[in-house]
Amino acid sequence: MTLQIIIGTQWGDEGKGRFVDLLSADADYVARFSGGDNAGHTIRIEDKIYKLHLIPSGIIYPNTIGIMGNGMVINPEVLLREIEELRQGGIAVTPDRLKVSYMAHMITPAHRLMDKAKEIKLGNAKLGTTGRGIGPAYSDKARRVGLVYKDILNAELFEEKLRTLLAEKNEFFEKIYGIEPLDVESVVEEFLGYARTLAPYVADISEVLRTALLSGKKVIAEGAQGALLDTDYGTYPYVTSSSCMASNALLGLGIGIPKDFDIVGIAKVFQTRVGEGPFPTELFDRSAGLLRGDGSQQWDEFGTTTGRPRRVGWLDGVLLKKIVEMNNISRLALTKLDVLSGFDEVKICVEYAKPSEISPLVLDNPVEPVYRTFKGWKQDIMQITQWDDLPAEAKEYVSFIQEFIGVPVKWISVGPERNQIIING
Ligand code: IMP
Repeated sequence: MTLQIIIGTQWGDEGKGRFVDLLSADADYVARFSGGDNAGHTIRIEDKIYKLHLIPSGIIYPNTIGIMGNGMVINPEVLLREIEELRQGGIAVTPDRLKVSYMAHMITPAHRLMDKAKEIKLGNAKLGTTGRGIGPAYSDKARRVGLVYKDILNAELFEEKLRTLLAEKNEFFEKIYGIEPLDVESVVEEFLGYARTLAPYVADISEVLRTALLSGKKVIAEGAQGALLDTDYGTYPYVTSSSCMASNALLGLGIGIPKDFDIVGIAKVFQTRVGEGPFPTELFDRSAGLLRGDGSQQWDEFGTTTGRPRRVGWLDGVLLKKIVEMNNISRLALTKLDVLSGFDEVKICVEYAKPSEISPLVLDNPVEPVYRTFKGWKQDIMQITQWDDLPAEAKEYVSFIQEFIGVPVKWISVGPERNQIIING
C-alpha cells in the first residue's frame, strides 16, 4: 500500500506538474485533492505541450487512472474542454480512465462573475484572484448551497438547484454589485448539456482509492497551488480558498490515515508569487528580470492560467523550512536550478531580522530578510544529468538547502524537458 503525496511548498507554480509526471510513470492512480482551474500544470513531452488546469497530469500515461477529488471545485465547461484537448493530442479520456468524485463541487458562470465582481468592488484591497470562481464556489460549499456532481445524475433536481443558485446570485449582481444579471435560461440549457456528458464520469472515488490502496496499487495525490496559499496557514487573506497542505490529501480524496505514505515537497530554487500579499524576499532590480525571463520562453515566470507576470525573489529558506516541518515532508524536489546560471552571486534567506513572535508564517508586519550569499556559477547546466557533473558552486548551493531545511533533496530539475532532471543519490 503506497500513497505518495506531492505538494507545492511555496506560492504555487513550483513545477509540480513535471514531478507528478515523473513519479506517475509507474502509478496506478493520480488523484487531485483540492482547488480548481485556478491551477495550471504545463507538461512538455518532446514537441507536445499539455496545459492542464483540472485533469490530473498523470492521465497522459495509458495505464494511469485520473481521479478528481471531493476537495475540488470543478468547472464542467473547462473539464470538457480539457478532455477534448487531450483527445486531440491522442490521449483518450474515457470514464474508465477519469473519475470525478460525486461530492466535488461545481463552478458555474455565476461563481466566476461573483469572483470578478468582488475583486472590482475591493479596489486596492483586492486579492488578485485568478477570477475562476474558486472563492465563491468554496463559499457556497461552506454555506451548504453549492451544486455537487452527484446532482447531475438527476436532471430534474439538478435543474431546480441550479435555478435556485442562479436566482440568488443574480439578486446579488443586481442589488449589491449593480451589474447585469446572468441569462438563467442559457446557463441552464448549457449546464443540462454538460450534465448529460459528464454523468458517466461521476464515481465514489473514496471507494476506488480505498480498494486500490488495499490491493497494493500506487496512488499519487497531486497537490494544487502551494502551501503558502493554504487557507488556514498561508498568508491569509492573500490565499486561495482551499487547503494546499499534505494532510488535506486525505480529506480531499475521502481516504483514511494510511500506514504507509511518502510526502514529497516541490520547491523552486527561487520564490515566485502571483496576486497580492506579503513576499519578504521579493526583488525589483535587474535580478528580478533575470529570474522571471522576458516571456519569450514557455517556462518563463508568467502565469499558466492568467498570463500575469509573476513576482519573483530569492529563495525564502525560513518559510520553506517551516512548511517542510508542518507537512512532514520526507524528500524535496528542487526546480529550475538552471535559471540561476549566470548570476555572480545567489542568495537564500535564512532568517528574518524582525520576525513575528508567533510564527514565521505570520507576515502581517514587514519582516527583514537576512541572506546567506553564495558564489554563482557561469556554466550552462541544462544538459547535466549527474550530480557529480554540476559546478562546485551549484552543488554548494543545493547542499546548503538540504542541510538548512533538514530533508534530502532527491531531485533537481535543470531544464523544461522531461529528461532534464538530476536524481540525487
Ligand atoms: P484564487 O485561488 O483564484 O481565489 O486566487 C487566490 C490567490 O491564489 C491569488 O493570489 C492567486 O494568484 C493565487 N493562486 C491560485 N491558484 C494559483 C496557482 O495555481 N498558482 C499560483 N498562484 C495561484
